[in-house]
Amino acid sequence: MKAIAVFPEKREVKLIDHPAPIIRKPTEVRLRMLDVGVCGTDKEIASFQYGSPPENSEYLVIGHESLAEVVEIGKGVTHLKVGDLVVSMVRRPCEHKDCLACRSGRQDFCYTGDFKERGIKDVHGFMTEFVVDDENFMIPVPRELRDIGVLIEPLTIAVKALAQLLQIQARLPWTSPIVPGKKSEFCHRAVVLGAGPVGILGAMVLVNAGFETFVYSRGSETGTKGLLTKSFGATFISTESHSAKSLFDHIGSIDVVYEAVGVSKLAFEVLEMLGTNGVFIFTGIPGRKPPIEIDTDLMMRNLVLKNQAVYGTVNAGKTAHEEAVRNLKVFVSKWPAAVRSLITGRYPIERFADLLLGKPGGIKNVITFDNL
Ligand code: BGC
Ligand code: ZN
Repeated sequence: MKAIAVFPEKREVKLIDHPAPIIRKPTEVRLRMLDVGVCGTDKEIASFQYGSPPENSEYLVIGHESLAEVVEIGKGVTHLKVGDLVVSMVRRPCEHKDCLACRSGRQDFCYTGDFKERGIKDVHGFMTEFVVDDENFMIPVPRELRDIGVLIEPLTIAVKALAQLLQIQARLPWTSPIVPGKKSEFCHRAVVLGAGPVGILGAMVLVNAGFETFVYSRGSETGTKGLLTKSFGATFISTESHSAKSLFDHIGSIDVVYEAVGVSKLAFEVLEMLGTNGVFIFTGIPGRKPPIEIDTDLMMRNLVLKNQAVYGTVNAGKTAHEEAVRNLKVFVSKWPAAVRSLITGRYPIERFADLLLGKPGGIKNVITFDNL
C-alpha cells in the first residue's frame, strides 16, 4: 500500500510501497485512513531535524493527525464496530514498570522519555492507506464531524493546555467561574501567539471557555487570518503594527499567554509582558537556532514578584481527546464557516512533496484517501 516515508540516513522523503498491516491481537482494529493532517512536526521530520524510524527499519512512515474508518475488528474489541470513525492517539506508553504516568495510561506525561509516537518516534504513522492498532488508542468520532475530524489531534493540545490552566488559576479564589459562552470578569484576558492551526484552535478553546482572547500574529487585521479570528469572537493584533512591548498599553494586563509559534524570541518578549498572577503556556517546539540574549534577572524578578507560572505542554491523553471531540462539535455549531475554513485544502498522497517540502500556505493542509 502507499505510504509517505522519511529515510533519515539517506536523507530522502518518498512515496513508497509499504506492507499492509494485519490484525494480530484480539483487541486490535484495522483502519482505513480518510484524512491525515500535515503539521510543522511533519515538516521538521521531512527535513531530518526530528523523528526516528522504528527499530530495524530504515524509514519512518510519517503522519500523526488522523481521521480513519474502522474496516475490521479483532475478536476482543468491545467498543468499536466496522464503519465507525475514529481518531488515533499519537503516543504509546514506555515499557518501564515504574513509569507511573505510562502505567496510569497518561503517557503524555511519560517520565522516562522512552514513549513512542506514531509517525514521529519509533513507530510508523498514518500517512498510509491502512493502519492496525489497539482499540484503546482510538477515540470514536461522530459522523457529523467527518469533514473536520482531522482537526481533533491538534485541538487536543489546546484542550490539555486549558485543563492545566484552570487548575493553576484555581489558586486565585476570585477567578470567575467559567460559564460557556459568557465572558468571565477576572483573570480571563488571554493572548495567543501565532495564527497557525494550534494557535487558532487554542484561541477557539479560550473564547469558548469565556476568555477575552487576542491573537498576536503576523498578518493584518483585514487579512484572511485577521478576519477569521474576528469571526469567532477573538481580536487579531498584528505583530507588524504592534510591538510586544506595546501589548499592555493596547489591551491591558495579560492573564494568560498561549504560545503556538515555536519562536522563542517572540515568546520571551511577550513573557516580559505577562501580568500579575499570569500564566504562560508553551506549546511550540523551536528548531535548533543560535542562542539569543534575554534579561534573566528581569524574568526571575517578574516570576517571583508577580506570582507568575510558566509551563510547557505536549501531546494529550484520552480525556483531552474526548473533550476535543465535544469541543469541535460545539465550535462547528457556533462558528461553522470559521471551523471549516481551517482546512485549506485536501490533496492526494502523490502531492506530499509540495505539502511537506514546499510552502503550501493556508492553515491546515490535509492528505486525503477518500473523496468527500
Ligand atoms: C504532536 C504531538 C506530539 C508532539 C511531539 C506534535 O506535533 O501533535 O502529539 O506529542 O508533536 O512529538
Ligand atoms: Zn502535529
